[in-house]
Amino acid sequence: MPQYKPEILFLKQEDVVRAGLLDMKMVLEVTEKTFKMIGEGQIINPPKTMLGMPDNDNWTSFCMSMPSYIGGDVDIAGFKWASESVFNATQPGMPYGVDVVMLSDPKTVYPKAIMDGTLITAMRTSAAAGVAAKYLASKSAKTACLVGAGVIGRTMIMAMMEAVPSLEEIYLCDLDLPKAQALAAEYAGKYNIIPTSDTESAARKADVIVTMTTSRKPIIQSGWVKPNATVIQMSVNEIEEDILLRADKKVVDNWTQLSHGAGTLINRLTTEGRLTEEMCATLPQLAAGQKPGRQSEDELCVCCTYGIGSVDVAVAHKIYQNALAQGIGQKLMLWDDPLWV
Ligand SMILES: NC(=O)c1ccc[n+]([C@@H]2O[C@H](COP(=O)([O-])OP(=O)(O)OC[C@H]3O[C@@H](n4cnc5c(N)ncnc54)[C@H](O)[C@@H]3O)[C@@H](O)[C@H]2O)c1
Repeated sequence: MPQYKPEILFLKQEDVVRAGLLDMKMVLEVTEKTFKMIGEGQIINPPKTMLGMPDNDNWTSFCMSMPSYIGGDVDIAGFKWASESVFNATQPGMPYGVDVVMLSDPKTVYPKAIMDGTLITAMRTSAAAGVAAKYLASKSAKTACLVGAGVIGRTMIMAMMEAVPSLEEIYLCDLDLPKAQALAAEYAGKYNIIPTSDTESAARKADVIVTMTTSRKPIIQSGWVKPNATVIQMSVNEIEEDILLRADKKVVDNWTQLSHGAGTLINRLTTEGRLTEEMCATLPQLAAGQKPGRQSEDELCVCCTYGIGSVDVAVAHKIYQNALAQGIGQKLMLWDDPLWV
């Protein structure tokens, strides 16, 4: 009899939710801890591999492989298969992003879990912005401008209200005003969310600007940004380059990925020799206390993110543990007896 069973816990999206994923405070804690562990060298996180379809420069859909091993007290291997489709965005009821996470035992390499990663992405993406805001936002930040009222926009409201306690109002901007209005209505009575399609007016008032749209062109102009604002870009090319270039604090989640990422603002500025790694800090360095976040109320702070696979794996591992403890999910066997060993 084999000592180890190749038993996989399968968690569909509803299971992942039942196992506690929508707890933004928990996801923020896991995300910050993961950044800290990356900074301390406890995580192996190779750059993501991009499969753009039909090609990298003009893709209409893509799948990315995002593997990592998390050491320390977590000790798990895994990867996220992260996918996005422009087609989906044109279809009612289909998410733009569709993701799956798999976890493996680092010793036996047996798969331990396969789960929906779509909501994990939404939660951890906004949590990454939340961690960025924690280190970079002014302590007196009162007004936020969130641009994009889609899936990430929804979780961004949760992350910003949790991570920046001084916030009093959020302008939620979208080209699709009814969409922003509907999302704002969900938070009525809880948070002060003002839906609008006038991004310029909202950005001009904002202490914190976060962009999470499907736009491939800059939508935040440099002249709209307050001198001491915090600007966080979640997609690849949503802010005018001058906002980043003149920032006192330039922060990325992962330099290697962003500087090589096709179509990213960071990749273009790096290729043109106008931005170097030395000019930037990383979120892992901030979380590990190796570089400072905001140091004065006068600084312009800018953070660009691309997504780090180990954060997905860390959040998925937490959900896996919760699901095991609560008896959630469906058990599958990879084999009964391996045919060839
Ligand atoms: N950095 C990361 O880790 C990470 C992870 C996941 C997704 N993302 C990015 O976040 C972005 C949003 O993803 P999503 O799943 O929420 O998409 P979504 O389709 O659910 O929402 C995008 C929203 O942006 C709006 N929009 C598009 N152009 C706009 C503009 N010019 N002004 C205002 N609103 C505009 C759309 O109307 C839509 O409501 C994508 O670009 C995705 O690549 C980043």
